[in-house]
Amino acid sequence: MIATDHAGRIGGEILRVENVSLSFGGVRALNDISFDIRKGEIRSIIGPNGAGKSSMLNVVNGFYQAQEGAIHYKGKRYAPMQPHIAASNGIARTFQNIALFKGMSTLDNMMTGRVLKMKASMVEQALYMFRGKSEELEHREAVEKVIEFLEIQAIRRTPVGRLPYGLQKRVELGRALAAEPDLLLLDEPMAGMNIEEKEDMSRFIIDVNEQFGTTIALIEHDMSVVMDLSDRVVVLDYGKMLADGTPDDVRNNQQVIDAYLGVSHD
Ligand SMILES: Nc1ncnc2c1ncn2[C@@H]1O[C@H](COP(=O)(O)OP(=O)(O)O)[C@@H](O)[C@H]1O
Ligand SMILES: [Mg+2]
Repeated sequence: MIATDHAGRIGGEILRVENVSLSFGGVRALNDISFDIRKGEIRSIIGPNGAGKSSMLNVVNGFYQAQEGAIHYKGKRYAPMQPHIAASNGIARTFQNIALFKGMSTLDNMMTGRVLKMKASMVEQALYMFRGKSEELEHREAVEKVIEFLEIQAIRRTPVGRLPYGLQKRVELGRALAAEPDLLLLDEPMAGMNIEEKEDMSRFIIDVNEQFGTTIALIEHDMSVVMDLSDRVVVLDYGKMLADGTPDDVRNNQQVIDAYLGVSHD
């Protein structure tokens, strides 16, 4: 249990999902879901395919707007959350299917993670080259730090479409980190990876959490990863909340075993 060894790492509530329900036509993707995430925590969301995990993250960052319920974030209540509010207040995410600009380099893709932090408008940049330049430099430095942290210096100029899948996932994490998030939403960051790539990604997630104090919500199917990384786990099952507790709690929960752990889900 690597993540829970550090006393004082976890603080008070940073996010609370309050009675969220979301439907698509007749499909109830989320049914009265409530849980909280504490500052500094690694909080996993697990459950079978179609359980509503990705939808839950989409409600948290405002991509989907739930018909009922609210998102509390840093002490404010949003019903619903809006994407620009989430992004400009420190929520960043990665996607289940990689969403990068394939023709652009690693570096340029990661620079897009800084867009919301850029103060100078295009016009300003043209009129006052100075401010534009110094700002550009500042963003470049922030991105270079992330590149170093993720050990991807060698591929900084490579178009991401040419990179192997595991590295593309790492670049996507890099883009999210470039935004210097307080809350990082990771949607299956290790899906499709081999064991070595999974170990690397696990290590980076732990390091982000410990070194930057970033709070992390993690959707992951690999139970050994979930058990190793998570402080607490939410279990969803076809839109319903099945369980919420420590990794040991959920691992030993008979309903969770019946619905998810006891069945093949790859
Ligand atoms: N944009 C959408 N339009 C219609 N249905 C959707 C949409 N997004 C998700 N759903 C439906 O919501 C349910 C939950 O999906 P999802 O959140 O992707 O589950 P998970 O990530 O746990 O596999 C599924 O039935 C899915 O088809
Ligand atoms: Mg999903």
